[in-house]
Amino acid sequence: MTDPLRLGIAGLGTVGTGVIKIVQRQANMLSARCSRPIEIAAVSARSRDKDRGISLSNYAWEDDPVKLATRDDIDLFVELMGGEDGPAKAATEAAIGAGKDVVTANKAMLAIHGQALAEAAEGAGRVLRFEAAVAGGIPVIKALTEGLAGNAIDRVMGVMNGTCNYILTRMENAGLTYDEAFAEADGLGYLEADPNLDVGGIDAAHKLTLLAAIAYGTRVDFGAIALEGIGAITIEDIRRAGDMGYKIKLLGVAQMTGRGLEQRMSPCLVPAASPLGQLEGGTNMVVIEGDSVGQVVLRGAGAGEGPTASAVMADVCDIARGLRVPTFGMPATALEAAPPASAASPARYYLRMELTDKPGALAKVATVLGEAGISIDRMRQYDHPGDNAPVLIVTHKTARPNLDDALARLPATGVLEGAPVALRIEDV
Ligand code: NAP
Ligand code: HSE
Repeated sequence: MTDPLRLGIAGLGTVGTGVIKIVQRQANMLSARCSRPIEIAAVSARSRDKDRGISLSNYAWEDDPVKLATRDDIDLFVELMGGEDGPAKAATEAAIGAGKDVVTANKAMLAIHGQALAEAAEGAGRVLRFEAAVAGGIPVIKALTEGLAGNAIDRVMGVMNGTCNYILTRMENAGLTYDEAFAEADGLGYLEADPNLDVGGIDAAHKLTLLAAIAYGTRVDFGAIALEGIGAITIEDIRRAGDMGYKIKLLGVAQMTGRGLEQRMSPCLVPAASPLGQLEGGTNMVVIEGDSVGQVVLRGAGAGEGPTASAVMADVCDIARGLRVPTFGMPATALEAAPPASAASPARYYLRMELTDKPGALAKVATVLGEAGISIDRMRQYDHPGDNAPVLIVTHKTARPNLDDALARLPATGVLEGAPVALRIEDV
C-alpha cells in the first residue's frame, strides 16, 4: 500500500461534515478503491466549540483556513467554506502556492475566479477539481470531461437549482402562490443565506457557466449569461402553461451558435412529457447533447449533505488514484474567450395577456404580432366573469428582437390590461 492521501478540510458545515462522515465510515472501501488510504490530517471552521455530531479529535485544528491550506502534513486542500472571495479564495490561492491540489464545492468562487484559479493551479502543476459545485451529487463534470470527451457538444441544459424547482413544483401541485411556496422552502431550510442567489437564478447561472466552459472549451464568462429569476412567475402562468401541455422550469441553456456562445438562465416552458418537464421537487437534471452520443440525461439530488459530499469524494478519489484532469477538461491557457451571442436563438414563445373584451381587440394584437414578423401557432381565450379576457398565444419560432419589438408596440393598441407575460418555449 502506498502513502496515504492527507486531506486538510476547511469548512465543517453541511458539506464538510458529510465528507468527514464518508471518510470515517468508508475508510476500507476508499483505501481499496484508491489503492491508498484517504486520511484527514487537519480541519478548520469558524467555531472550534460547535457540536457538529462527528468526532474531530484525531485531526489537527486551525482557526485560519489559509494556515490549514499550507500545512506540511496535507497533500490535498478541500475548500468547503463557500463565498465568492474572502477566506475561500485566499485559502485556495495559498494552497496552490504551497503546492497542494485543491477540491472545492464553491460554484460562486469558480464562476468569477475559475479561469485565474485554474491557470494558477495548472501553472504550478497542481489540479483544481469541482464536481460538487454543479448539480450536487450528479457526476456531471466527470460526464462532460471524461465520459463525453469524444463529443462535440451541441447543447447543455438543465434544472440546476433545487430550491426553484421545489417552489415551482409546489405552486403547481399544491396551488400555492409564489410567496407561499417561497415561505415553505424557507421553512425547510432550502434557501441560501441570500435567497436571491436561488430565486434570482444566480446560483444556477454560476453552475451553467462552469458547464459551458467545459462543454465548449471557453473561458468562464458569468457576466455573459442572460439571467432572469422565477420571482415573476404566477400560479396562473403555471396553470395556463399546463393547459397547453407545458411545465415552467428555471432552465439553464448553453449553446454555441454561429453568433457566439449563448448562455441563458431563465424560466422557460418545456414539454410536460419530457424528462425536464417531469422533474419534480428539489431534484436536479442536466441534459447534454453530443454529436456522437445524442442526448444524455442525468438526474439526481442537487444539494444536501450526502449527495454533495459524494461528489467531493469523487474528486478526492481521482486525485488519490493519480488522475489529473485539468479543471475545465483542457489546459486553462488553451480556453478561448468566446464572443457572447448578442441575442437568443429563435424559439417559440408563450404569451399571456389580458385584453379588454371589445370587438377588434384580438385583431389588433394579431396585427402587431404580424407586423413584427411573428406568426401565431396556437391561441386560446378563456371564460371570464369580468370585462377582461385572458388570452394565451403560442407563437411559431421567432427571434427575440422581433418579440421585443412586438411587446414594445402592444401597449399602443389600447386593448391591453397590464403587461403581457412572455416566456420562451425550449424544445427539449
Ligand atoms: P455551511 O453549512 O454554511 O458551512 C460553511 C462552513 O464554513 C462552516 O463550517 C463555517 O464554520 C465555515 N467557515 C465559514 N467561514 C469561515 C472562515 N472564515 N474560516 C473558517 N471556516 C469558515 O455551507 P455548506 O452548505 O456546507 O456549503 C459549503 C460549500 O459547498 C459552499 O461553497 C456551497 O456553495 C457548496 N455547496 C453546498 C451544497 C449544499 O447542499 N449545502 C451543495 C453544493 C455546493 P462554522 O461552522 O464554524 O460557522
Ligand atoms: N441552493 C442550491 C439549490 C444548493 O437550491 O440547488 C445547491 O447548490
